[in-house]
Amino acid sequence: MRCSFSLKMPLMRGETADPHSGEGDALPPFPAIHLAVTENLPEYTLLDSGHGRKLERFGRVTVDRPEPQALWSPRLEATLWQGADGFFESAGDGEKGRWRLQGAPPESWPMVIDGLPMTCRFGSFCHLGIFPEQYPHWQWMIRRIRGLGGQKPRLLNLFGHTGVASVLAAAAGAEVTHVEASRQAIAWARLNQSSAGLEKAPIRWILEDARAFAAREARRGRTYHGLMLDPPKFGRGPGGEVWHLFQDLPDLLRTSERLLEPGEAFLILTTYAVRASCLSFDALVREILAGRGGHCESGELVVREAQGGRALSTSLFTRWESHG
Ligand SMILES: C[S@@+](CC[C@H](N)C(=O)[O-])C[C@H]1O[C@@H](n2cnc3c(N)ncnc32)[C@H](O)[C@@H]1O
Repeated sequence: MRCSFSLKMPLMRGETADPHSGEGDALPPFPAIHLAVTENLPEYTLLDSGHGRKLERFGRVTVDRPEPQALWSPRLEATLWQGADGFFESAGDGEKGRWRLQGAPPESWPMVIDGLPMTCRFGSFCHLGIFPEQYPHWQWMIRRIRGLGGQKPRLLNLFGHTGVASVLAAAAGAEVTHVEASRQAIAWARLNQSSAGLEKAPIRWILEDARAFAAREARRGRTYHGLMLDPPKFGRGPGGEVWHLFQDLPDLLRTSERLLEPGEAFLILTTYAVRASCLSFDALVREILAGRGGHCESGELVVREAQGGRALSTSLFTRWESHG
């Protein structure tokens, strides 16, 4: 389901309104804000949320994790929350901490996404290796990969983590380049590739700083039909290279613009846990891709409670596509 409000801004090339034209003249309308909602992902359910936590089912395992956006009250009975297989206890206000398990759940287990088993695991972060709210992005990406008739689509996944998007893209027929700073995350991603039965699929796993890799690819004149960027607020490359979202994103997007195929192409940007509006990322992407025309949409990635239907926002996104 998609919700949106306000009018869509005519985009980039072909935009007619002159923002300096003075009072009385029409300014371009504001961009629409979309909710991209995770639905019909059978092995994931947001069971309940509230009091700063969420109760979810990933495959056969239920977990109770911190969720700062859940300001409201839980609706399910406390006994259901207390029955969760895993409870994540935060250390401080970050994503680090430890899992307290009950009933001996498996250390790792499969969750099937679009027919492919991906691995969930309890680790030292509150994440389990799969971000189910990304499901609308994965579906959007797969449609575009399949729509690139006649050519072998190339996808660059920067900050690719445990590789769910990379494996799904390979299954849809793309040649994938996956860039990630954590050796452990790449090992996990390779496991996802083999458990999906795609050992022979063309995925390059690259342990490198995302900015350094993108800059080198741009110097080499390489291009991609699709770019996925899921940068953290703060991160480090494998050589200690520091990444600050607000300082470094504009430059990385400028490099990304050079990496996009001139014809049909797409870009997906997601940002988590930042004090920003999707309008900021929307304006940045529109500015950088202005010369390419195409269409841009921005909003929030949302999961919906199974009962009651409250929408839990997880992150901001901007997606762009051009049909050449
Ligand atoms: C928010 S996660 C991406 C989640 C992924 N899109 C998914 O759905 O599974 C961000 C990832 O960026 C990686 N990272 C952080 N700094 C990096 C850097 N400088 N270069 C490359 N990867 C980096 C982290 O190790 C982490 O795996």
